[in-house]
Amino acid sequence: MTIKIGLLGFGTVASGIPFLLKENSEKITAAAKSDFEIAKILVKDDEEKNRLLAAGNDYNFITNIDDIVNDTDIQIVVELMGRIEPAKTFITKALEAGKHVVSANKDLIATHGKEIIALAQEKGVAFYYEAAVAGGIPILRTLANSLTSDKVTRILGVLNGTSNFMMTKMVDEGWTYEAALKTAQELGYAESDPTNDVEGIDAAYKAVILSQFGFGMTIDFDDVSHQGISTITPDDVAVAQELGYVIKLVGDVRETESGISAQVSPTFLPKEHPLSSVNGVMNAVFVESIGIGESMYYGPGAGQKPTATSVVADIVRIGRRLTDANVGKAFNEYNRPAKLADPADVKSGYYFSLNVPDKKGQILRLAQIFNGEDISFSQVLQQRGDGQKAHIVIVTHALSLTQLSNVTAKLNAESDFTLINSFKVLGD
Ligand code: HSE
Repeated sequence: MTIKIGLLGFGTVASGIPFLLKENSEKITAAAKSDFEIAKILVKDDEEKNRLLAAGNDYNFITNIDDIVNDTDIQIVVELMGRIEPAKTFITKALEAGKHVVSANKDLIATHGKEIIALAQEKGVAFYYEAAVAGGIPILRTLANSLTSDKVTRILGVLNGTSNFMMTKMVDEGWTYEAALKTAQELGYAESDPTNDVEGIDAAYKAVILSQFGFGMTIDFDDVSHQGISTITPDDVAVAQELGYVIKLVGDVRETESGISAQVSPTFLPKEHPLSSVNGVMNAVFVESIGIGESMYYGPGAGQKPTATSVVADIVRIGRRLTDANVGKAFNEYNRPAKLADPADVKSGYYFSLNVPDKKGQILRLAQIFNGEDISFSQVLQQRGDGQKAHIVIVTHALSLTQLSNVTAKLNAESDFTLINSFKVLGD
């Protein structure tokens, strides 16, 4: 049997699909017990269609989604357009027409996944999206299948290649945030509007999806607190190194006694933690679980062939299920009511960087403030002042989000203190 595919979009990832289908055809046919054919490709307009044809692409390019939706020979629709609209409308139309859908669209799945998954279930069709989290790393199927026997307690991830490339340059080569961003844009990693990458939004989308697969809880995007890397200073990077840490943007989803907590934030990782050696544009997902203990899944989080590999794996899985006549099973079957953690139960060490007046008694004032919130110091570092102000760094033992909020308010209320930054510290 030959299964016909309709592609939505023909950008970097989509154009890697024909290569993989051809290169691995023997293995793919063995796994799917079917062949695949790209029957139609939806592009934006005639200008794009003519450009692609002129460049030698020999496909049936179309510009109207209905040419795919109404084509009863097409069984699988692959959406690789990204962002919310028109992808949401097109996927909805495809599902309503009874087509199986593969997508890599984490923005859409994290914000409208519930309704799209419900529609797919109602129609008895498949909606798979392995490529939506960490591109080439097969983490969703691993959580859904290989870890079904295990209880996941925490997932930590370096989930955004652009910001990790920038942090690697800032840590290893002392670059400023601005210089790292400029190079990331020149190399095509960061978009011209890099907000989603550097402000932790892209990683927060991925944290929403990981919470479904790891913990069976569908949380809303707004339930993921996210802080980006734009406020990290060369001083923060240098002090982290001096204290034995590497700063990275880390997604952190964990289950506490009261519920689930999901955060994306710059995080001080102990140098010996496996995630601290994940450099450049690479991604990694570090899973803590009762059975396996600790495991890490490492690989490229973006790029043509890595991401297309995950997309084609979804296509093959659907193809096999079509052959076996058991298609329609949900991608993730672990579902529990979502319960958010009480902030008092979400605990971590924290790093505080402050400027204080360069005169006696300041450490005492700080000790009183932290002690008043029942917070214990782990490390304290004071740099030589300039006669006016002195820079102090405090790393605490574990404190809760409630304590963090209280102590931050108290520090900000001291008019002669400047709280420059506070970041999570793993392992304290
Ligand atoms: N822009 C993302 C990153 C890739 O830099 O990791 C796709 O999510």
